[in-house]
Amino acid sequence: MKSFKSTAWLLPQPVLIIGTYDKEGKPNAMNAAWGGQWDMHEIMISLGSHQTTDNLAVNPEFTVTFATADTLVASDYVGIASGRNTPDNMQKAGWTIEKAPNVNAPVFKEFPMTLECRVKQKIDESETGYFLVAEIVNILCDENYLAEDGKPDVEKMKLITFDPVHHTYIQLGKSIGNAFADGKQLK
Ligand SMILES: Cc1cc2nc3c(=O)[nH]c(=O)nc-3n(C[C@H](O)[C@H](O)[C@H](O)COP(=O)(O)O)c2cc1C
Repeated sequence: MKSFKSTAWLLPQPVLIIGTYDKEGKPNAMNAAWGGQWDMHEIMISLGSHQTTDNLAVNPEFTVTFATADTLVASDYVGIASGRNTPDNMQKAGWTIEKAPNVNAPVFKEFPMTLECRVKQKIDESETGYFLVAEIVNILCDENYLAEDGKPDVEKMKLITFDPVHHTYIQLGKSIGNAFADGKQLK
């Protein structure tokens, strides 16, 4: 085994797109890889200091959507262009924006699935950022991405993950097993 010094190589990492409104209702988006499920109805995201955190300070509601092969370029763009100094970042991203039905935050219609969220807790808050814990208020899924059982079909979405080793995006592939089930073979 080769050893490497400690770094942010937890694998695989999501490509979350966080949607917020500023105090005037102007939409913004940023890319975040350092996030995950916190509890059954809550998520967590490690946030630096961004336009997004400015927006959350005045309006603690946001959306989280999951980047796909089809939305990759603009998803990466909102990870390198801040709304703080790129006021036309949403025009450049080119997404269709609607207000979310249950929170005061934008939905980007090109993405298959979106969580509507409300800030619950900011842990270790400082001027460099904080760890955000947020309640999932509601989940939206484009009807084109539903499976036969009526639930979201993750395989259809062409989701991408972030590779923090080589800074690439990798498209997810096919389902290859059944969770809480295949392991029973060894019971
Ligand atoms: C692949 C990738 C992952 C990122 N992950 C995070 C993250 O987890 N947390 C964070 O604070 N910033 C992260 N960023 C940086 C922000 O997306 C970036 O600073 C963005 O421009 C902030 O936008 P805003 O100022 O408009 O909110 C990531 C960027 C990229 C490209």
